[in-house]
Formats: sequence, C-alpha cells, structure tokens
Amino acid sequence: MRHFLRDDDLTSAEQRAVLARGLALKADRFAETPFVGPRTVAVIFDKSSTRTRVSFAVGIADLGGSPLVIDAASSQMGRGEPISDTAKVLSSMCSMIVWRTFGQERLDQMAASSAVPVVNALTDQFHPCQILADLLTIAEVKGGLSPEGPALAGRSFAYLGDGANNMAASYLVGGALAGMEVRIGCPESHSPRPDVVARAAEIAESTGGSVLVTTDPAEAVAGIDAVATDTWASMGFEEAGHAAEGVLKPYQVTSQLMDLGNQAVFMHCLPAYREHEVTSEVIDGPASVVWQEAENRLHAQKGLMAWLMDPEQIAG
Ligand code: CP
Repeated sequence: MRHFLRDDDLTSAEQRAVLARGLALKADRFAETPFVGPRTVAVIFDKSSTRTRVSFAVGIADLGGSPLVIDAASSQMGRGEPISDTAKVLSSMCSMIVWRTFGQERLDQMAASSAVPVVNALTDQFHPCQILADLLTIAEVKGGLSPEGPALAGRSFAYLGDGANNMAASYLVGGALAGMEVRIGCPESHSPRPDVVARAAEIAESTGGSVLVTTDPAEAVAGIDAVATDTWASMGFEEAGHAAEGVLKPYQVTSQLMDLGNQAVFMHCLPAYREHEVTSEVIDGPASVVWQEAENRLHAQKGLMAWLMDPEQIAG
C-alpha cells in the first residue's frame, strides 16, 4: 500500500503515470470507478479550504465513491483523540484518508497507523496535490502532452515570494521530479529549508532538472515558461506574513516581471490577494491560467486516487 504524504513519495515515472491518468480522466470523466460500491473516503480538514474540499469531494464521487468530509474541530480529533486511534477507526471503514492538517509529523502518524492510503491535502511543509495540478496545467498550456503523460523535462518554472512556505517546497521537489528547471526568487529571510533544496537538487540530478534559489526576482523569471506565487500570509502564519509585506514587496508578480519571461503564464494556487503577492493586471490578465489550474486539482487528484487504488499499489 502506498501513501502520498510529500511530492517525492512518487518516483519521477510514477508522477508521470499519475498525471497521464489524470489527463485521461479529464478527457473521459467517469472512465474509472475504483471506489465503486460506493466505498467511502474520509476527507478531513484542520484548516479552511474551498478548492481542495470541492475537488476531492467531486473527484471521489466521479470515481464511484462517497466522500465523507469531516471538519476536524467538530470531531473527537478536535478534542485531542490520538491520531493513531483515529487512523485505526477511519481505516476500518473507509478506503482512503485525505487530510489537511498542520505539521507533517501528524500526517506521518496517521499513515503509520492507517490500513488504507493516506493523502496530503496540505500541511505546513508540503502541498503535493497542488503541484500535480500545476504540472498538468503547464503541460497543457506550454505543450508536452503525450499518452504517457506530461513531458515537462526542459520546461522552466519560477516561484516568487515566501520561499519558506509549503508551496515553494512542493514546487522544488515536485518540479525537480518532473525534470524541470525550478527557480525560487525570495528574500534571504524567507529562503526554502536547506534539506528541501538539497533533496530537490538530488532529484534534479537524476531527472535532468535543476534548482536555483536567488534573491533577485528578475534572475528568477528571466526567460521562464511559468511564474507562480502564493499568498504572503500562509494559513496559520498570517501574522508573520503581514509583518513581512515590506520585505516581500520586490517579489510581487507584476507585468514588468512577467515580461522578462518566455511568454510566461501566471499561476497561483489560490486564494489570491490582489495587489499583495500579485497585481490585478497579471492575475486577471491574458497570461493568467489560474482557473484552469484550479480545475486541474480535480483531474490530477482523480489520477492520483485511481493510481493509489490500483491492486498493484494496494498490495505493494
Ligand atoms: N489551493 C488550495 O489548496 O485551495 P484551498 O485552500 O481553497 O483548498
């Protein structure tokens, strides 16, 4: 049985296979029914969500299953029931557990005691489902689609803003797995964790990708295929985000920075805060692919869930 707790829980080839499956399900929405029965999938939220909640609920239903969306605060989890006890109970009745929570170690604890696959729907450290959707989107808009999945090797991608957050970490690791040139433009005070950069660089060596972390936003986006950013106030870190607006301002995605790219598209996992991390002109302009990116959460996650439910992965 396999879990998807961080981007590199998939190999490069497996990431491509998952995305190929997502693309096939985008073309033929009800082609796979791994949750037929219907089997139930628990989708638990310790934090707010719109896209993740809806895309998992709809995706599970599309795959023949029944989504059970749980607000953790109103469950016994919110009163401190051990994660391992929750895992045993949920996995005795459900076929998969999808969880948005705080520290990555909480997800690791859930997976350690679960008899069914566990999926990361965002932690403080990683947001790997978002990156699957983003890779699908880059392949669609920049070319590189094939029946074997997106061929993203050689494509370049820049993330500007808070380089220490979960999105930057997943872009580094997930982008390197796809063989992409990944650049992070951020102030030194908001650099990615060294272990994440080292892991991404290690992966990039084997996939032909590359990793660059720079404090120069113009260097980050020069000749780039896609530019992304994220809110400066990540969930649970709002106070620190607001305090850092001054230091992050040079990394705001503007038309001037976008013009330095190679007809670059603009991406944002959403929700966005216009005139903070991105100008309205960019996010609402012709280079923006944020709505396609949001819809691709559904298709990429369906590909992931169908792959995780394959008898081969369940038995492995
Ligand atoms: N991008 C993303 O995870 O959106 P939500 O917080 O709305 O789920």
